[in-house]
Amino acid sequence: MIEVAKRLQEVEEYYFSKKLREVALLKAQGKPIINLGIGSPDLEPPIKASMKLQDCLLDEKAHQYQSYQGLPEFREEISNFYKRHYNVDLSSQTEVLPLMGSKEGIMHISMAFLNKGDKVLVPNPGYPTYASVAKLLEAKPLYYDLKESRNWLPDFRALERMNLERVKIMWINYPHMPTGRNADNKFYDKVIAFGKRHDILIVNDNPYSFVLNKKPISILRYKNAKEVCLELNSLSKTFNMAGWRVGTLVGNYDFVSAVLRVKSNMDSGMFYGIQKGAIEALKCSDIWFQSLNSVYQKRQKLIWELAKKLKCTYYRNATGLFVWAKLPTQYKSEEFTDMVLKEYSIFITPGTVFGSNGEGYVRFSLCADVEVIKEAIARI
Ligand SMILES: Cc1ncc(COP(=O)(O)O)c(C=O)c1O
Repeated sequence: MIEVAKRLQEVEEYYFSKKLREVALLKAQGKPIINLGIGSPDLEPPIKASMKLQDCLLDEKAHQYQSYQGLPEFREEISNFYKRHYNVDLSSQTEVLPLMGSKEGIMHISMAFLNKGDKVLVPNPGYPTYASVAKLLEAKPLYYDLKESRNWLPDFRALERMNLERVKIMWINYPHMPTGRNADNKFYDKVIAFGKRHDILIVNDNPYSFVLNKKPISILRYKNAKEVCLELNSLSKTFNMAGWRVGTLVGNYDFVSAVLRVKSNMDSGMFYGIQKGAIEALKCSDIWFQSLNSVYQKRQKLIWELAKKLKCTYYRNATGLFVWAKLPTQYKSEEFTDMVLKEYSIFITPGTVFGSNGEGYVRFSLCADVEVIKEAIARI
């Protein structure tokens, strides 16, 4: 009998990986499923990015191994992007590391900084990968509460009261998935001070800053941030390039080079055409962001209508790719989403996928065409 590694006993298959199999089965049985569960952008990437990728196929350099650090011109463009949109200065030589999506960065950062038995502060609710990666590395996720009553921001007094021994990393993610809440200047100053006080690496996972968000913010804009912070960013949602697998890690040289030590032992560079296409995307003018957001605004309004029909309440100033909605009090999240799937063939995500504080909430994705959302509304 060949046994899997012990670390896998701690980690379950990703919720969507399991649930989408069930949804596919229902579809195969002829159920007209509307998928408002997963946040996979359905819109086109910038056309010049796709054209560039296509042109690159005929370039002989395109098919060779690429640099572990990414093309210098790609790093330069990431640095320009950070200056233009976040007013952050980054050295493209030492403070930028292109990644295959921000999800791989979560693993690489964790591998670079965590030893067995270390602890990691993880938001509840939050993106499930932070905790599962910690578990894969035999580190311990320590959940910190986010509550609607505190606008889904952490309570620093409660954090200070926690046993922070062996805590090496704190994951934060604003604009926050799944709630869509934003953080303010005070929060960033506080979290940086917290990281400095306790020698905790603060990692801001920032893939949603350009979706329905008037003021994109990078944590690196704040005083002392480079001393204790890293930031992950991604082209998945900003440029509808989720399947390209392209993102970046930014931060000080010491941290970034530690992550590069891990990464350079795991892959052999990112496909040339993807890097060249990504450069074109990063150069997009403000018109790109305006048109992206005008589509999401229309969808968001319709999803609000759908949520209302399901007797859910929601917050109107939310950012990001989702509507996070509170259920009528008599319902539990999974019971509600199973009911919606069974009765109306609409797949939405129970809040509990993101942690126990997601109980009583559901998440609707904006990654569906207006006609599809109208059909969902008509079914209720
Ligand atoms: C909070 C959060 N972080 C990271 C990711 C991963 O994004 P990427 O496609 O850049 O790996 C997601 C994707 O859904 C996300 O919601």
